[in-house]
Amino acid sequence: MDKIIIEGGVPLNGTVQISGAKNAALPLLAATLLTGGVHRLRNIPRLRDIRTAKTLLYHLGATFEEGDPLCIHTDTVDSYEAPYDLVKTMRASVLVLGPLVARFKKARVSLPGGCAIGARPINLHLSGLERLGVKIELLHGYVEASAKRLVGNHIYFDIPTVTGTANLMMAAVLAEGQTVLENAAREPEVVELAQCLTNMGGSIQGVGTSVITIEGVSELRPMDHTIMPDRIEAATYLTAAGITRGNITVRPCISEHLEAVIHKLEQAGMLFEITDDYIQGVGGKTIHNTDIKTDPHPGFPTDMQAQIMAMMCLANGQSIITERIFENRFMHVSELKRMGADISIEGNTAIVRGRSTLQGAPVMATDLRASASLVLAGLAAEGVTEIARVYHLDRGYQGIEEKLRGVGAKIERVKE
Ligand code: EPU
Repeated sequence: MDKIIIEGGVPLNGTVQISGAKNAALPLLAATLLTGGVHRLRNIPRLRDIRTAKTLLYHLGATFEEGDPLCIHTDTVDSYEAPYDLVKTMRASVLVLGPLVARFKKARVSLPGGCAIGARPINLHLSGLERLGVKIELLHGYVEASAKRLVGNHIYFDIPTVTGTANLMMAAVLAEGQTVLENAAREPEVVELAQCLTNMGGSIQGVGTSVITIEGVSELRPMDHTIMPDRIEAATYLTAAGITRGNITVRPCISEHLEAVIHKLEQAGMLFEITDDYIQGVGGKTIHNTDIKTDPHPGFPTDMQAQIMAMMCLANGQSIITERIFENRFMHVSELKRMGADISIEGNTAIVRGRSTLQGAPVMATDLRASASLVLAGLAAEGVTEIARVYHLDRGYQGIEEKLRGVGAKIERVKE
């Protein structure tokens, strides 16, 4: 297993190229199942989760022509099963449920089970599909879905779920009549999926709001789509500028996707130059403490909570960080404490008392964003930080060591 070794204390300066968004690419790959033909997807990030999604599509019968665009042939899809081995590796595999049941009227998808950050049930995906006329049975750890026809309906989500909204949008686009998704997720990745489905011939209104209306169509054409830049990757590198008191430009990026994060980084003392194509973030001499509550978009993203917490460990006061999306997303706290951070947890709230320094230490990553927070802490710490289990990072950050080395970080990957 690989390790990442960082010698901290170097202010980072320069430009980081942002890759395509993982959480936009995953639903788009699933959406290729909606219709046979040759789909073209550009700017696909090179990540472990993307490889897992492609393995799943291959298992279902799809074939690929590698390159940019990646061409995905889905005429040959002849299986409807997402097996346990792939779903347990990546929960987003559940995104094939909606498209398979919409196109073939049947699907068999392993139940994902819990993960490091929470229980993460899929009850809202399943009850939504039932509202469209899909019969759902849970048998031997699998969701068995079947339908004679899918018929549009009103669906209210108790919680605005990102992949749940994506799954239901993909199912409803080929259902008969109108579907209204209420309390739908408003994340940019959901908007991008809707735009792509519309270009495929779907009819979707209200995207980016909490009420999405879909008029079912009888057929779609293959997609030809370019994936947007990854907002969480961009935000992570901007935070790297903040925590190391450096100066980093991220490009390309879409600044509207990053408003909540930039607002907080400004409160923490950073200065920004924002254009249509790039954002330059300059770290302040002093990191100011600031309180954070995670929320569905446009609120502060849970996927940046661990990274901003690393920065607050070095702030000039106390920050209260409240995690409101996942019930167990503080796994990075005990590792940050091993680096000298002063953090206590009460329920879903972390009280971070800023210190003037962190010390490098051997630490272990537990999930993707927790790993990113340990990298950021290591970049700012005195001495050497060794991060084990970096395969988590490879799920969501393309070429992180090369990108960080490009802005001056002393970072390397070694085989254990
Ligand atoms: N929830 C339910 N029932 C459901 C679905 C969700 O109770 O049927 C709950 C979840 O347990 C959670 C909340 O609703 O408490 C929101 O979860 P959501 O469904 O929105 O999360 P997700 O779709 O499984 C996506 C991202 C996550 C990101 C969350 C929140 C993808 C592939 N994953 O997950 O990304 O944290 O939305 O924004 O899009 C990551 O990239 O590191 C990551 C974990």
